[in-house]
Amino acid sequence: MCAQPVAAPTPAIDYGDVQGTILRGYRVDFARHFILSITNAAATGKLIQALVDGSDGLPKITTARRTMPKPDCFLNLSFTCPGLAAMGLSAAELGSFDASFQLGATNSKVASNVGDVGDSAPQNWIGGLNNGGQVHLLLSLWVDDSLQVLETVSAQLRAAFVGAVTELSAQDATAMPDNKVHFGYRDSIAQPNVLGAPPSKRPPDDQPVVATGEFLLGYPNESGGTYSVTPAQLATNSSYAAFRILEQDVAAFDELLETYSTQAGMSREMLAAKICGRWRNGNPLELAPTEQGPVLPTAQLNNFTYVTGQTATDDTLGLKCPVGSHIRRNNPRNEAVVGTDSSHHRIVRRAMPYGPPYDPQKPGDAARGLVGYFINASVQNQFEFLTSQWNQQSDFVKSAVGPGGSNDGNAVFNISGEDVFLGVNDPASSSFTLAGVGKNGTGNTTLAGFGRTITTRGGVYCFFPSISGLGYLASLAQA
Ligand code: HEM
Repeated sequence: MCAQPVAAPTPAIDYGDVQGTILRGYRVDFARHFILSITNAAATGKLIQALVDGSDGLPKITTARRTMPKPDCFLNLSFTCPGLAAMGLSAAELGSFDASFQLGATNSKVASNVGDVGDSAPQNWIGGLNNGGQVHLLLSLWVDDSLQVLETVSAQLRAAFVGAVTELSAQDATAMPDNKVHFGYRDSIAQPNVLGAPPSKRPPDDQPVVATGEFLLGYPNESGGTYSVTPAQLATNSSYAAFRILEQDVAAFDELLETYSTQAGMSREMLAAKICGRWRNGNPLELAPTEQGPVLPTAQLNNFTYVTGQTATDDTLGLKCPVGSHIRRNNPRNEAVVGTDSSHHRIVRRAMPYGPPYDPQKPGDAARGLVGYFINASVQNQFEFLTSQWNQQSDFVKSAVGPGGSNDGNAVFNISGEDVFLGVNDPASSSFTLAGVGKNGTGNTTLAGFGRTITTRGGVYCFFPSISGLGYLASLAQA
């Protein structure tokens, strides 16, 4: 089946003016994210111009225009609000940016809103990220399969940093076989179909197309408006992202599965699938409800929704895929929810695992998790909305019964607590509901008392200027 068209005409996007990671996944093995503080604005302007041009022996910032053969490395650059100020944007101009971006990820209101509290609080963040005011630039380097290329290009970049920026830290990531993440799940399956984006290498799915303006400034968004900023030079083809370092405690997650699968009377693998919404091999519960089975063809892995009205396929009640599972909270698809609908809150995920694979025989104390960007045109309406509302609350689901009628249950009773992956999950109040048939939730099993297994170790709200916008900022800083 083909993706359904939306009413808006397809915009002609100048892919050469858009930073690549926004609209296309690089499918690489290694990433290195340099966290930088500007020490000399004019020298930084010169450095950025060299990266835009690919001059002075430096690699060029990667655009959304696909080139053949595949380049040795991919490079993208984003700014924090203090970073844009250091480049010379005025306070009035900065006031036109996304309100959450202006506050920054270390702001206490922002942090408590997205659940960065306790061990996850900004004061505990690593790599210089605890001090949001000193973080100005994130320069990310992705390399396909050669650690040597990663080191060679890193050395070139580090030589160019001298006199312009200070490297606060570098956060590395390494892909795991079959796109697995540390809890053993296959990731990187579902991404939004962005209107007008370059053709993807992944097979097309049957999901609705999302307006360009949900991911790029200057184009109509799902509400019919346009996210924009001043100056005009930054107002088209730019985007925002939440950069996150999320540490995963694999031993604690295994223990959670062990304890609660016994309580729920199901296998560990089934509970793992219920928590995520997909089996660890990637098969969605909607298409493989009772057992994992062999991996479905890639082209089918994202072809499902939750409300069909047909007895055989409808899952309004979450009997197959829990209403509170990770994928259903983060993209409820056609389920009735508070917050208009899922297409107003989509994000592009560009994160990769870091740290060594967990070996229960040799647990060690190495840190591991997921690091990268969650990309959107509005930090407030997309990343922050998802994190603060749908991941931390359970009352966003609207009253809905399935084809069997209200005696079978209602979706509102079949969700509780927070996302098991992303919620704060204080054991005093945490819970996760496994739906059963029955009026008013009487057939449900609710698991309670588990703790957080993913801790935030760093966060940055960033702005990815268009390529022409990068040139503008480079000139501004040198003026
Ligand atoms: C360490 C942290 C995380 C882990 C282990 C994790 C794991 C996963 C897995 C295994 C999937 C299924 C694969 C797929 O559909 O592509 C998934 C999907 C998804 N995750 Fe996460 N995730 C994490 C963080 C986040 C964050 C921070 C967000 C956003 C706030 C997020 C939003 C999503 C979305 C939107 C989907 C796709 C849902 C869909 O379209 O069906 N995830 N995640």
